[in-house]
Amino acid sequence: MPNITAQELRNKYLTFFQSKGHTIIPSASLVPENDSSVLFTTAGMHPLVPYLLGQQHPGGTRVADVQKCIRTGDIDEVGDNTHLTFFEMLGNWSFGDYFKKEAIAWSFEFLTSKEYLNIPLQRLAFSVFAGDDDAPRDEEAAGLWKELGVAKERIAYLPKEDNWWIAGTTGPCGPDTEMFYWIDDGTPVPANFQETKNDKRWVEIWNNVFMQFEKQADGKLVPLKKPNVDTGMGLDRTLTVLNGQKSVYDTELFDPMFQVLELDQEIMSNDEVKKARIIVDHIRASVFIVNDGVEPSNKDRGYVLRRLLRRAMVMGRLLNLKFHWLEALIGKVVTTYAEAYPDMAANSEKTFAVILAEQKKFEATLEKGLKEFEKILKNNQSPTTPSVFGGHPSLSGGDAPQLSKDNLRSSPPFQGGVPERSEGEVVGVLTGKDAFDLYQTFGFPWELTKELAEVFGQNIDKTEFESEFKKHQELSRTASAGQFKGGLASHSDKIVRLHTATHLMNAALRQVLGPEVWQKGSNITEERTRFDFTHNAKMTDEEKAKVEELVNGWVSRDLPVKKEILPYEEARKLNAIGVFGEKYADTVSVYSVYDPKTDEIISREFCGGPHVEHTGVIGKFKIQKEEASSAGVRRIKATVE
Ligand code: ALA
Repeated sequence: MPNITAQELRNKYLTFFQSKGHTIIPSASLVPENDSSVLFTTAGMHPLVPYLLGQQHPGGTRVADVQKCIRTGDIDEVGDNTHLTFFEMLGNWSFGDYFKKEAIAWSFEFLTSKEYLNIPLQRLAFSVFAGDDDAPRDEEAAGLWKELGVAKERIAYLPKEDNWWIAGTTGPCGPDTEMFYWIDDGTPVPANFQETKNDKRWVEIWNNVFMQFEKQADGKLVPLKKPNVDTGMGLDRTLTVLNGQKSVYDTELFDPMFQVLELDQEIMSNDEVKKARIIVDHIRASVFIVNDGVEPSNKDRGYVLRRLLRRAMVMGRLLNLKFHWLEALIGKVVTTYAEAYPDMAANSEKTFAVILAEQKKFEATLEKGLKEFEKILKNNQSPTTPSVFGGHPSLSGGDAPQLSKDNLRSSPPFQGGVPERSEGEVVGVLTGKDAFDLYQTFGFPWELTKELAEVFGQNIDKTEFESEFKKHQELSRTASAGQFKGGLASHSDKIVRLHTATHLMNAALRQVLGPEVWQKGSNITEERTRFDFTHNAKMTDEEKAKVEELVNGWVSRDLPVKKEILPYEEARKLNAIGVFGEKYADTVSVYSVYDPKTDEIISREFCGGPHVEHTGVIGKFKIQKEEASSAGVRRIKATVE
């Protein structure tokens, strides 16, 4: 019997913070509302950003919740002891109410008091911000921990990379203090945390962020009028350590899934354990994503979902899982979470249908794709390297049982088929064109091919994959590489015209309403652009007319549109504006609309495109509707003719 169940932990957390005056709010959807700047809700704070920036929350200034989150940034680490793509984050929030003193005291009380988690202080360690040019060393937080009885050796001072929190590159941010638990593996807890902090046995379970600044697109940190507290405690990780388990995959939340797969992590090889963990993680995440209304597709969220499902299916194939395994896993996720998320059961029929349809689609090409993969590998072997398969069962099945047979895990196709090679040695080359063909013909997402290739020490050239993709796009003129967010989007001429019109509208809104207007999200269809932006009042008819006039003026001047690829810092210095909360890569593409005669910059935005080459082709711009979207956010629907 576990010491504590997941539901008990959720309830304890919420009851505790309710007793400290917090209003309990439900989890927001995994699909961010009114905000297309991130694909998924990645942290408890994401849906609460407007309130962290000063808007009034209907629940008051103290709220607590259990928020569903998806993070795919660490996807390569999924399968180790702590990383997951889906997780629940327990959080308590102060919107300009309490600050460090109360937040730290309550974290301490919840973790250590008999009534709540009853963790011996001896097993815990804490980190605080070490200080830099932006903010001082957080002696205040360290002092508060010490006052509560924490030994000074158990407090580490860490730099921004560790102890500073921001969702994306702009928005509310500040130093944080993190809480760590030394997992119970029979070894003594190290006395000094600063020296041992990188030991994987220190598991971070909770983070208290002290939000004092808003980071602007130009990189400036502007103090918030009222500082906030944002905290996040990982449910899976906390459950794991409280129950003396080694990995997040050992908890009751995954147990039923391993049971239906008849897989016992204790007796599997490390490689098999990793594959099995990827399967249960990805299917759990997929069920939650589908439950929030997303369907597999070739772009954005749908592409992430497709990638998760197809990767899990390939892993299932490699472990020779039984027919119907996927169906059984979906059922287990639904029942495991039925109490905490009652909509899971209500939506389950659709969830099964959506995921199983994707399975059917991919299964039709999975075997053929794996065969093709094998063929490519054989053809591309360099004569000096040993045979890739060396007489072992072939990758695509061979003697090994097929997916559809009621026959389990006898000899996974990769087993023994991987050539002997030293770490990092490359055996032959899989070309970007091969990877593109696998994508195009067999539906193998790029990331999956890359991963399969790595097993065989194969290098794939992403640039070549992308250029193949472009060629294809030019041929068909229907698809384009969605550089933005890595998905595969489709754009017609109309959508491209609307896209550039949206940049011009953004620039016009900032001129007419003021520079506090920030894009919160946008969505473009064949018919219209929909644009959400921060603004507190309904726009007047005059303001709307002025925006239309400005945009149509720029259209009639037929201004050129220029794309540049720049280091992020350089783009920022040029005052390129971005989407609120968006994460940008080190190198970004920036689109500018400018007047070559006067060098006037009309609009300059971080954007993956595509855009028109000159504004004259956009057509007549018209605002069709202006309405409230959510508190402090307005929404415009506009067209071009
Ligand atoms: N927003 C903080 C985190 O996600 C609490 O770690």
